[in-house]
Amino acid sequence: MEVTRLLHITLLITLLLYFCQAYNYETYFYKQKKLKYTGYLTSEQALADYVELITYLKSAIDGAKNSTVVAFGGSYGGMLAAWFRMKYPHVVQGAIASSAPILQFTDITPCEDFGKLVTADFSKESPECANVIRNSWAAIDSVTRNEAGLAWLTQAWSLCKPLKTPQDITSLKNYLVNVWTNLAMVDYPYPANFLAPLPAYPIKVVCSHLTEANNDPKPLLEEVFQGLTVYFNYTGDSKCLDINQQADSRLDDYGWDFQACTEMVMPFCYNGVEDFFEPAPWDFKSFAQTCYQTWGVYPRPFMAVHMYGGKDISAASNIVFTNGLLDPWSTGGVLWNVSETVVSLIIPEGAHHLDLRGSNPDDPPSVIQARMIEKTHIQNWIDEYSARYDE
Ligand SMILES: *[C@@H]1O[C@H](CO)[C@@H](O)[C@H](O)[C@H]1NC(C)=O
Ligand SMILES: *[C@@H]1O[C@H](CO)[C@@H](O)[C@H](O)[C@H]1NC(C)=O
Ligand SMILES: *[C@@H]1O[C@H](CO)[C@@H](O)[C@H](O)[C@H]1NC(C)=O
Repeated sequence: MEVTRLLHITLLITLLLYFCQAYNYETYFYKQKKLKYTGYLTSEQALADYVELITYLKSAIDGAKNSTVVAFGGSYGGMLAAWFRMKYPHVVQGAIASSAPILQFTDITPCEDFGKLVTADFSKESPECANVIRNSWAAIDSVTRNEAGLAWLTQAWSLCKPLKTPQDITSLKNYLVNVWTNLAMVDYPYPANFLAPLPAYPIKVVCSHLTEANNDPKPLLEEVFQGLTVYFNYTGDSKCLDINQQADSRLDDYGWDFQACTEMVMPFCYNGVEDFFEPAPWDFKSFAQTCYQTWGVYPRPFMAVHMYGGKDISAASNIVFTNGLLDPWSTGGVLWNVSETVVSLIIPEGAHHLDLRGSNPDDPPSVIQARMIEKTHIQNWIDEYSARYDE
């Protein structure tokens, strides 16, 4: 009798210890607290919120009861717009989904496509430009091997915080990956201020500084800095280069980081040959580990496909997808006409959701044309829906 009790107690203590060890009590509860609110940050919740809002507005605004509702969105917002129409066709009569990478998921879009397109945007200006960036990773490694080199790069690149640890070098490289990627996203034909204040065709301007790929590490990195200046100091107001701020801080990319760790798992990989990045395979296991450490959640790589259908969207209706071919996100976009009413418009000279920006004298004809076709579709949706309420 006594022995059995003792065994039970021992088992209980063992389990308790195991639990504490495995979950690290303190962080576990800290993460639960964070998730109390962040846990609602899902695409399903976002769509359900819109249903509430639209239903309320239709009842609260005089004369709005029978109005046609059209969803507009770019980027993740474009994904939401398309999914909104798919999931709630009785609430929204059509959707304009611009640069919406609803196919940027596991087993649908090859993970290397994105980086290849970023690279193509630069090598289109000059192969030398892409090669400077391709050679910069090794140049950083070779220069930062010792204290003197770390100090040199800190000074040469006007860094806000001195480089000290290997982690700092990783952060620096991540910053560069983001800058080159962002430039490809916002390569607009006129000065704009989306992720950072930038001149017209910023890649052309950056590449005008990246001309000698065979330079020794230090002169090569000095060139790279001239290129970076276009991105982080176009206004001339920057006191130093802050590698922790890769885009306009008002965008608050923590939200996206959480979503990428839950439903929006988008695999990216680089090989350094077909693209100019440091080789990095897609490693789901380590990605998942980082997600757990940061947010206390594990990603669900097939969630979006199960929830929204992946490529199998032929049952949908009334969606216009638009994609600019300069935009690396177009690799995960819908680039074919799915049906009569689910169409895809290609804007060869377009960057990230160019069509949703205001019109500009420097707009290429392809975006003007795309907007006209969008208008025709919207008119059809309105006519179709209004007909229900006519005598
Ligand atoms: C909505 O449509 C119904 C049915 O045709 C009609 O009776 C009603 O007056 C309409 N409401 C508004 C606000 O237009
Ligand atoms: C930013 O540009 C201004 C004007 O050219 C220059 O004075 C300043 O030193 C630059 N800042 C950095 C960090 O390079
Ligand atoms: C889809 O059809 C439209 C005409 O409705 C056409 O303008 C467009 O080029 C087609 N898109 C693709 C990707 O073929």
